Amino acid sequence: MQNDQPQTIQRADYQPLSWTVDTVDLHFALDAGATVVTNRMRCVRNPDAAPGPIRLWGEAMERLELTVDGAQPVALRETGALLEIDAAGESVMVEVRTRVDPRANTTLSGLYLSSGGFFTQCEAEGFRRITWFPDRPDVMARYTVTLEADREACPVLLSNGNLVGQGELPNGRHYAKWEDPFPKPSYLFALVAARLVALERKVRTLSGREVLLQVWVEEGNLDRCEHAMEALVNSMRWDEETFGLELDLDRFMIVAVADFNMGAMENKGLNIFNTKFVLAKPDTATDVDYENVESVVAHEYFHNWTGNRVTCRDWFQLTLKEGLTVFRDQQFSADMLARAAGPEGAASARAVKRIDDVRVLRAAQFPEDGGPMAHPIRPDSYQEINNFYTATVYEKGAEVIRMLHTLLGQEGFRNGMDLYFSYFDGQAVTCDDFVEVMSEANNGFDLDQFMRWYSQAGTPRVKASGTWNAADGCYALTLSQHTPATPGQPDKLPLVIPVAVGLIGPDGRDLPLRLEGETQAGATTRVLKLTEEAQVFRFIGLAAEPVPSLLRGFSAPVILELDEDDARLAFRMAHDADPFNRWDAAQRYAERVVLAMAGGASAGLPQAFVNAFRALLADTRLDPAFRAQALALPAEPYLLERMSPADPGALRTALIAVMGALGRELAGDWLRVVDGMQVSGPYRYHPGDAGKRALVNLALRYLCAGGQPSGLALAEARFAAATNMTERFGALAALVQSSSPARGAALLAFHARYRNDALVLDKWFALQAGAWRWEEGGEPALDRVRVLLSDPAFSLANPNKVYALLGTYFRANPGEFHLADGSGYAFWADQVIALDARNPQVAARMARALENWRHYAPALQARIRPQLERVLASPGLSPDVAEIVGKALQQ
Ligand code: ARG
Ligand code: ZN
Repeated sequence: MQNDQPQTIQRADYQPLSWTVDTVDLHFALDAGATVVTNRMRCVRNPDAAPGPIRLWGEAMERLELTVDGAQPVALRETGALLEIDAAGESVMVEVRTRVDPRANTTLSGLYLSSGGFFTQCEAEGFRRITWFPDRPDVMARYTVTLEADREACPVLLSNGNLVGQGELPNGRHYAKWEDPFPKPSYLFALVAARLVALERKVRTLSGREVLLQVWVEEGNLDRCEHAMEALVNSMRWDEETFGLELDLDRFMIVAVADFNMGAMENKGLNIFNTKFVLAKPDTATDVDYENVESVVAHEYFHNWTGNRVTCRDWFQLTLKEGLTVFRDQQFSADMLARAAGPEGAASARAVKRIDDVRVLRAAQFPEDGGPMAHPIRPDSYQEINNFYTATVYEKGAEVIRMLHTLLGQEGFRNGMDLYFSYFDGQAVTCDDFVEVMSEANNGFDLDQFMRWYSQAGTPRVKASGTWNAADGCYALTLSQHTPATPGQPDKLPLVIPVAVGLIGPDGRDLPLRLEGETQAGATTRVLKLTEEAQVFRFIGLAAEPVPSLLRGFSAPVILELDEDDARLAFRMAHDADPFNRWDAAQRYAERVVLAMAGGASAGLPQAFVNAFRALLADTRLDPAFRAQALALPAEPYLLERMSPADPGALRTALIAVMGALGRELAGDWLRVVDGMQVSGPYRYHPGDAGKRALVNLALRYLCAGGQPSGLALAEARFAAATNMTERFGALAALVQSSSPARGAALLAFHARYRNDALVLDKWFALQAGAWRWEEGGEPALDRVRVLLSDPAFSLANPNKVYALLGTYFRANPGEFHLADGSGYAFWADQVIALDARNPQVAARMARALENWRHYAPALQARIRPQLERVLASPGLSPDVAEIVGKALQQ
């Protein structure tokens, strides 16, 4: 093998730097092929660290000059990306001039070009691709930045903080000077120099300061910014009201860029976004897009406090800012939905949001936690930090924060947050700091055992069983926990698991709960604290045997193992007072039915299941958004994870059969739903309307899966008559996922209408890459994907395009990717290798599609292994992909 041994960084090795940086003065002479960066930084000795040299990191640049206090450094050692300089005294001025080539930068990390403009992405370690610097989050400095560029090509020059000067220069150039009053780590640095226009708004903060908000986009997109602006204003208000946190700058900017590896980035005062999470108008964005824009805008805005004002000491602490900020954006979205729904619908609206979040967790994080990349929310080691922007760090991290919120209560949590900012504002801290302060603010609430959530990987299993004693009216609930071994962690200790419990009486109503030792019955939902390997909780004073409803609201990120027969699941589907659990009962029932079919244990759909489904569908007291969630089958990746060994082909066959049968057997009900759910008037993004549209689109999906002419005709008609993207795309998706002869024509019509719209074309690519085979002799998705790879609108250089076409095929279409002859895998290896040469971060994300290969049937494993080996042996492989594939092969 040609690759160097991968380097592993250990959390335990953290050492503060001997020298940090106080102020940075950057000058950029921007030029597409050769940008010269002059960096004057005042380096200061760190009183809290052992003496040592100044350490600077740098890569992918040419060093033109380096001086210390104006002179050549006396001693300078360079090893790979690290430069060590010996210096005397307490403070020195280091000046370094570098030349970088934005045009050649295809990694989209550091300084790069997109549509002729200059953009940066520095998290996690992109700043070292711009200049030599102690590029670690524990170095917080004050930045002054001067940008100089061609006025014609780049009329807009932006950086962090406040604009303090601008003017003309000779040769058609101009400059702008920015000053950020807040010390920040280098990963929060940003610049933009491009031809853009802004939607602007002025608002007052809680304390009455006027601030300028801007959303910068390409000129043709100005009509798609209103929703992002609205979301920004709502986020500001929410953080003021909920946490007393106010915007600390006079100006807050969002910039949209079409070429971006991730979703968005919280650079201080200058958030840079993937266009996908900014631009929205009714004709091009679906309800789900609107929702995503709102939550990503909120997420990045909330980082201003949880991430920027208080940041991470080192990258192992990433969940300190990400888990907390995801939790905050989830709460924000839930509040927005509840507000729109009004008092009557608020609880259901919140549950729908919770269901969405748990769906993501189960489909993305559970498989990660059960595979070779399994890691605690605070990892102990990594080879490439960019591989650890994971569902575990983000989504499971948010669940851990949510459990703290549950254990401490709303007020206790808020007190902890207040104390957190009072102690750590302006500092780079650790997860321990956060949890300790939460304890301190809550009378020393013991969180020692809770810290295990930060150190143990793997999804805990909670097993529940109940015994009913009719003689004394006692229901004894035994809960036990077990976390399976993960790589490097063979043995696990018991965790603190909050288990929200309700007991349902025979009439379907919740019973007031009274635990042994209590004098009277109280609330109908209680949070039990499971801290031992096994515990028994005795509920007394019951007249009849109850049906337990456990883990209400998904009170902990665990897999609940509870023996429930079909009748009991149907009962909870119909009666559980906790809407989350009502949904979950439907999911469990559906999972059972689908997996039984996939395993060959049953051939048809049990009538009782159809009836339970129909009852939910027909229950018009239920919010349409909730019904849409409850009637959607569990995500395919989650079902695969629940299958052992995983057989994607058999699962797909079963899913096609189940969807088809539900479409046919409930055809009349689905048609009634479509008829009865008309949303009138022009499109507006409103959760109530969105719920109706979601249920109609789901109905079309089932009807088309059922394959009956009336259903297909209805979808065709709705596709033709649609007045907004949600309806147009919903109908198109239903047609594509069917044996309709109109599929091809509809895709063509859609393409013709949107051929110049990059974001809408992404949907078009994704739809085809995700298509199932609904009939004998149908086109394999792989054939289609190959054709689309050479479509003029496709480009491997644009991450959104890669995620839409390849990401959808590899990760969201397992039935078509895991072909028995292994052709999908060979194609995967070719694409990962091709991508890696240009953009390792994107390549690594695609590489992850096969990390859980040992979970599949042996015949598939035998086809996958040589492809993994081929990728690993490929010359010049990035550490990003090497880590993913290496760990997959190792496990
Ligand atoms: N901090 C950003 C967010 O969660 C994510 C940026 C990650 N970028 C990366 N290349 N790893 O909002
Ligand atoms: Zn984030």
